[in-house]
Amino acid sequence: MEDGGNSHGFFMLNSNAMDVILQPAPALTWRAIGGILDFYVFLGPDPASVIGQYVDVIGYPAMPIYWALGYHLCRWGYKTSNSTWDVVKSMRNNRIPQDVQWNDIDYMDQFMDFTYDPTKFDTLPEMVKDLHAHDQRYVIILDPGISSTQPEGSYWPYDEGLRRDVFIKDAEGKTLIGKVWPGLTAYPDFSDNATHEWWYDNLQRFHKKVQFDGLWIDMNEPSNFLDGSTNGCPSNSLENPPYTPGVLGGLLRAKTVCATAQQKQSTHYNMHSLYGLMEAKASASAMKRITSKRPFVISRSTFPSQGMYSGHWLGDNRSQWKDLYTSIAGILTFNLLGIPLVGADICGFGEEPQEELCIRWTQLGAFYPFTRNHNAIDMKPQDPTAFSPLARRAMKQALLLRYSLFPVLYTLFHHAHVHGHTVARPLMFEFPKDVRTYGIDKQFLWGKSLLVTPVLDPGVDYVDGYFPEGLWYDYYTGNPMPSKGEEIRLHAPLDKINLHLREGSVIPTQMPNITLWVSSGQPLHLVSALSDDGSATGDLYWDDGETIDAYENDQYSYIIFNVAQNMMTSEVLHSSVEATYITVETASFYGVKQKPSRVLVNSQDAAFTYSTNKMLTVTDLGLNLSHNFTISWM
Ligand code: NOJ
Repeated sequence: MEDGGNSHGFFMLNSNAMDVILQPAPALTWRAIGGILDFYVFLGPDPASVIGQYVDVIGYPAMPIYWALGYHLCRWGYKTSNSTWDVVKSMRNNRIPQDVQWNDIDYMDQFMDFTYDPTKFDTLPEMVKDLHAHDQRYVIILDPGISSTQPEGSYWPYDEGLRRDVFIKDAEGKTLIGKVWPGLTAYPDFSDNATHEWWYDNLQRFHKKVQFDGLWIDMNEPSNFLDGSTNGCPSNSLENPPYTPGVLGGLLRAKTVCATAQQKQSTHYNMHSLYGLMEAKASASAMKRITSKRPFVISRSTFPSQGMYSGHWLGDNRSQWKDLYTSIAGILTFNLLGIPLVGADICGFGEEPQEELCIRWTQLGAFYPFTRNHNAIDMKPQDPTAFSPLARRAMKQALLLRYSLFPVLYTLFHHAHVHGHTVARPLMFEFPKDVRTYGIDKQFLWGKSLLVTPVLDPGVDYVDGYFPEGLWYDYYTGNPMPSKGEEIRLHAPLDKINLHLREGSVIPTQMPNITLWVSSGQPLHLVSALSDDGSATGDLYWDDGETIDAYENDQYSYIIFNVAQNMMTSEVLHSSVEATYITVETASFYGVKQKPSRVLVNSQDAAFTYSTNKMLTVTDLGLNLSHNFTISWM
């Protein structure tokens, strides 16, 4: 940021080990130890344009499959498929929204990829069928390390990998062996197209047994319990360069493979940072071929361009209040980096959360673009059903709120996909001239208009939030809240996350259900927050939720909403069949200054209510979303 609200960006595209040092002066120093030096300067001039320009260079993030935006439940340490299934059933019994169930490495036979434990997870295929029967989805973890110690002929992934020569080699040209969960492992070289084909074949073969819908690619730095390999690494200038950036352990090979390891395209010295990107690319392309739908992949390791292939979770956090707080900066950072599908482990991975923390985390997590509760092995269960009825209710409420905002979130992802916009957005992006927004890391926006102010501390029923100058509305009540650009204390009982709508916006919301199944036809509710001059705008992108390249192939609907001079117009700019079964049932207008005497819907008189907080509501509209309509009052 420059004085006066202008901004610019600087991008060095380089995959080698590097230090990036924030100098005391307004300056950054890069120290990279090799590779190609590509520099970009993005001129902005506003922060959102800088990011748009960056994303234009690295590639636009993929449009997620709709259920990616639902609630995901996961843990390390489900002991059996039946105990995994029990949690799903208990969520259903409590009518708590859940779109996706995951399994960690527990499902595997001796932690080997593309297998499942035949005794403890014997009912896995049935569980997955049951999920599908309830419009729910199933995601499995995969680690890159392929067990190299099974008797010949007994483990196809390794045998076939050797046959096709897909594994990373050591400096002498032998298969490099490291160690991960299954014991000794070889590492697929995703810089080789042959490896992508082998990865696909493995996935396809396993998919015939267990019909997973998405992939969680973990340990893909790539991670190694050893330094380098079972044989160590040679001693030369790649392993011990004249300068080593401040990497883990002070050694390039620490907890990964040797820098001298050979990949198809170059040495691991040059390719290390690209491992997760290339694995994601192989995984997304394989999932597309297997499901013929938009692929769902979540990766731990990332690199510029990652958003084209996968989302990201922020890795192993802890069940502590400070981790709840720092997750916001993490979410915002990855939105700046063109990987908007990002979330932190809700309720914390390591350690056990107090109930209060888990409630607050579920509330904040309901506003992570990617919403997954994940827990470490040996920790007490922390899914919503593991807590008291009061906590369950509060968590359910937060998730239903997210589900009701699905049309907003989906539309924001469309703009990320097509224009490189952020989904979760720092306040400074919308108010670049207000210096007080620059340091805000406890609040954020969804798009331009929904301001989220979570509680991040224990034992309080209030929260202080900064409101840039202008008119804001309480999302729930429609009560106007003018701000001069000030900090305002908000009431925040345990079952509430504060949410405010910025003046001048129209958002499409939807009656929530316990899954997001788009074609369920849940009716829409339009909420308009009027500016002082009575105007507001908003939009809605809609498609079938899963078709690959729906936008690119014109299989979508796009509608804009405008309010001015006591009239809302809904204008269909692009229409396809997908939106015809959706109706707009209600419309609320916050900030209507005088009680109307008549309300007309498409020129016909309609019933309405008007409340003292200046909210006009029109119900039972039954308007077809694919047709233009008007709602006016006088
Ligand atoms: C490390 C991952 O970060 C964590 O989320 C996962 O539970 C463990 N690996 C076990 O697979």
